[in-house]
Amino acid sequence: MLNVETEGSISMANSNHVVFFDTTLRDGEQSPGCTMHHAEKLRMAHKIAALGVDILEAGFPIASTGDFESVRAIAKEVKGPRITALARAKREDIETAAKAIEPAEKSRIHTFLSTSDLHMAAKLKITREQAIDQIAEMVAFARTFTDDVEFSPEDATRTDPDFLLKVCEVAIQAGATTLNLPDTVGYCLPQDYAAMFRMVLERVPGAKDIVLSAHCHDDLGLAVANSIAAIEVGVRQVECSINGIGERAGNAALEEIAAILMVRKDKLPYTNDIVMTELFSASQMLTQCISFGAAPNKAIVGANAFAHASGIHQHGVLANPLTYEILTPASVGYSGQHIVLGKHSGRRALEHRLNELGHKLSKEELNTVYTRFTELADRKKLIYDQDIVGLLQPVTA
Ligand code: KIV
Ligand code: ZN
Repeated sequence: MLNVETEGSISMANSNHVVFFDTTLRDGEQSPGCTMHHAEKLRMAHKIAALGVDILEAGFPIASTGDFESVRAIAKEVKGPRITALARAKREDIETAAKAIEPAEKSRIHTFLSTSDLHMAAKLKITREQAIDQIAEMVAFARTFTDDVEFSPEDATRTDPDFLLKVCEVAIQAGATTLNLPDTVGYCLPQDYAAMFRMVLERVPGAKDIVLSAHCHDDLGLAVANSIAAIEVGVRQVECSINGIGERAGNAALEEIAAILMVRKDKLPYTNDIVMTELFSASQMLTQCISFGAAPNKAIVGANAFAHASGIHQHGVLANPLTYEILTPASVGYSGQHIVLGKHSGRRALEHRLNELGHKLSKEELNTVYTRFTELADRKKLIYDQDIVGLLQPVTA
C-alpha cells in the first residue's frame, strides 16, 4: 500500500489515487520565454488550485528575492493544494524554502541532489560517498521544518542502478515521504522508466510505504508516455505542467496525463482530482502570462485539438461526434467552433455553418454558394464567418 496525502498529513490511502504535482510555476517558469511577474504567478497559482492539483510547486525561493516573495504570497493566499518549494540539498536553500512556504496551511519541502556520475563529477565535484552523506543530512534537516519532504535524485535515469538503490534507501531512512525519480534529460524509454520504479519498489526497504513520483522531460517526446508507464507500475505522483512547459522541450503536459486517465479508464483504473473542465481556460490563461501558446496541433488544448477541416470528417462528426472525437470539447472546457471551413470542407459542413449563422438556403442556393465557397477556399487559407456571409449576398439579394 502506498502513502497518499490527506488534509494536513501523510496517511495510508486509496492506492489507486494518482496525485497531481504541478510544476508550471517552477520547472515551467524557469524555462525560456516563460518567466512571470509576481502578479502573474499569483493569478496562475489560483487557477492551478482551481484545476484541482494536489501539490503546487510555487518556485525556487533561493533563486531570487522575487521568487521568494512569489512563493511566500502563494503560500499565504492560495488554498487547496499543498504548497511546495524547491531547494538544493543545502542548508541555506532549505532554510529559505521553509521560510517561503511557512504561511501555507499545507506545505512541503522538495529538495534535490544530482546522483549520476556525470553530474556529480562535472557539476557538483563530489564523490558518491559525499552525495550519500549530503542526502542523509539534508533530507533529515528538511524534516526539522515539516513532516512532508520530497527528495529527487536529479538525473536518476542516468544514475548507476545500484547506486540509485542506495540513494533511495538513504533518503527514505532520513525521512523522505515522497521519492521523485526524475528523467531530467528526457532520455528514458517508457519500459525502462517503469523498470526503474519496479526495481526500487522491489529492492528498497520502505519504498512501498512512501509515495513514488515521476518527473519526466520531453526531449524525445516521451514525457507523458513515461509518466503513464510509471503509474502502471505503482507510481502515485506525477509531476507535470500546463501546456507541458518546462526546461528545454518541457515537462509532461498536465492536461494530457489527465485526459489519458479519463479517456482510457478501461486500461488505467486510477482516480485523481483534476477538474477537467478547467483545462482549456488554464491553458489560455498561461498563454496570456508567458510569451508563447500551445502549438495549434497540441493534444487537448491546441486550437486544432477539436477542429475538423476535411469534408469526410466533418460529415462524420456532424452525424455523430464519436466518429472522430474520443473526448468532447466540452469535457475539457472548450466551447469554440470545431467545424473549420476550408478547401477540404464539404457541402454539409457549409450548410451546417450557414444554419448556425441563421441562413436557411434552398438546394439551388446552396449549390451556388458552395461553388463560390470552393473558389474562395482555393485562394484563402482561413475562411471566417464574414467571408461566408459575404458569399451569400448576390444569392439572397
Ligand atoms: O528535471 C529535474 O531533475 C528537476 C528536479 C529538480 C526535480 O526538475
Ligand atoms: Zn525538471
